[in-house]
Amino acid sequence: MTKVVCPGSFNPVTLGHINVFERCARLFDEVVVLVVHNAAKTYHVSAQQRAEWIKRAVAHLPNVSVDAYSGLLVDYAASCGANLLVKGVRDALDVVVETQMYYANREASKGSIDTMFLPTGEQFAYLSSSIVRDVASYGGDIGAFVPAAILEEVAAAYRKR
Ligand code: PNS
Repeated sequence: MTKVVCPGSFNPVTLGHINVFERCARLFDEVVVLVVHNAAKTYHVSAQQRAEWIKRAVAHLPNVSVDAYSGLLVDYAASCGANLLVKGVRDALDVVVETQMYYANREASKGSIDTMFLPTGEQFAYLSSSIVRDVASYGGDIGAFVPAAILEEVAAAYRKR
């Protein structure tokens, strides 16, 4: 039984993230999508709200659950019995950044937690949460970027007031 954690800010979750979750759901027995805090980022939408959106967007995947956590990622993984993290990567820049986190997480877990990189589906290689936030802030159409089930709420949450 292989249980994996897919961590990230998901601010907000995009169709690129969903593509990675769907493929993880086929590859592994159990998948936990985890909203965690990136110290380099600021968030205007709570982790609970971002997790709620993901829950609705992965409702079609029975072996995927969603949670939010404010501590160290490796502590969460250890406590839920997962020894593998899966990160979606779009390009070489993502690989560089994620490789740094891989080493840190390996070290912090004393070698017990590993990381796999899964390339995002090519149709989403250009897509990022920051593009979604930017387009949404001007009231632009984000229908091609985020799951239909959460589109209206995401658009409203990031629209400039
Ligand atoms: O989507 P992001 O912001 O690129 O994801 C990065 C994230 C949130 C997974 C990373 O910052 C993280 O793991 N944060 C939790 C706290 C932690 O464990 N920090 C050490 C990671 S090297």
